[in-house]
Amino acid sequence: MTEFIHEPVLLEEALSALQPVAGRLYVDGTIGGGGHAEAILEASGPDGRLVAFDRDDRAIDATVMRLARFGDRVELHREPFSGLTKRLLKASCDGVLLDLGVSSPQLDEAERGFSFQAEGPLDMRMDQRQPMTAEQLVNELEAEELAKIFWELGGERRSRRIARAIVEQRGMQRLETTTQLANTVERACPRRARTHPATGVFQALRMAVNDELTQVRAGLEAAWSVLKPGGRLAVISFHSGEDRLVKQFSRRLAKPYTVRGEVDVPELREPCEPSARELNRRSIKPGAAELERNPRSRSAQLRALEKL
Ligand SMILES: C[S@@+](CC[C@H](N)C(=O)[O-])C[C@H]1O[C@@H](n2cnc3c(N)ncnc32)[C@H](O)[C@@H]1O
Repeated sequence: MTEFIHEPVLLEEALSALQPVAGRLYVDGTIGGGGHAEAILEASGPDGRLVAFDRDDRAIDATVMRLARFGDRVELHREPFSGLTKRLLKASCDGVLLDLGVSSPQLDEAERGFSFQAEGPLDMRMDQRQPMTAEQLVNELEAEELAKIFWELGGERRSRRIARAIVEQRGMQRLETTTQLANTVERACPRRARTHPATGVFQALRMAVNDELTQVRAGLEAAWSVLKPGGRLAVISFHSGEDRLVKQFSRRLAKPYTVRGEVDVPELREPCEPSARELNRRSIKPGAAELERNPRSRSAQLRALEKL
């Protein structure tokens, strides 16, 4: 098995949002390679504790070793962060970090099927116990459903054309590998820019296979409920749809009013105490040095809020 190497993004910024200190309880909902987790444990020494989650076996195995020196200060669960209330009491934690998306090993290991850069099975599951794979979606969904996924999750403007090409191709031979899919997309939409034409399709399928937006919605609510007053939630997202959910969530909690009905009309507002303070009005993005060191950080955005 190859070494699990993932460079944590916005590390300093996430730490300065969470401000870990000794004796407190923190949660890392997406432990990945354990970079953020290790920094939280170091900053909260000698006795701060961390409860961490990941859906990926490989991530858990790698971090068991990396974090072994912290002993019983760490607890790891191979579970989705949407279920973190099963492991933590309400209002018991001082900080929660969600670093969304995929880890570098998930992208780099061809057999995981996340990337069109190398030949691999069309898998894309973060949790390999899950039955549904990308291969099933690609070969079994109707063209309309595929197009909807490519448009909504991949921002793909040529979603219908690509979906029709997939349906035509799979009529001749089932699509089983990442290269078969990437080539089908490229034939339907020849490359015009530097970005590979299958980029949006791969991102969209990955998000659909892992039901990522549903996880984010549920994860934000779960994280909020386990935080103590004064506790902080920091979320790093890599996709505009994810960041929109985080932004809407934090704006809703930080408003000094609630809204009756679906639309925010000033006459229908009822004053209330805000339950959150946004630590930054705008999302925080990686600086030039980080972008230079780690180009994969380019789409990262951090939002952080404090529970009042
Ligand atoms: C960007 S990586 C995290 C990297 C980590 N912060 C580090 O420093 O190495 C994202 C991780 O979140 C995991 N993940 C994504 N969605 C998840 C979910 N709903 N529940 C638990 N883990 C999830 C992925 O398996 C992946 O390992």
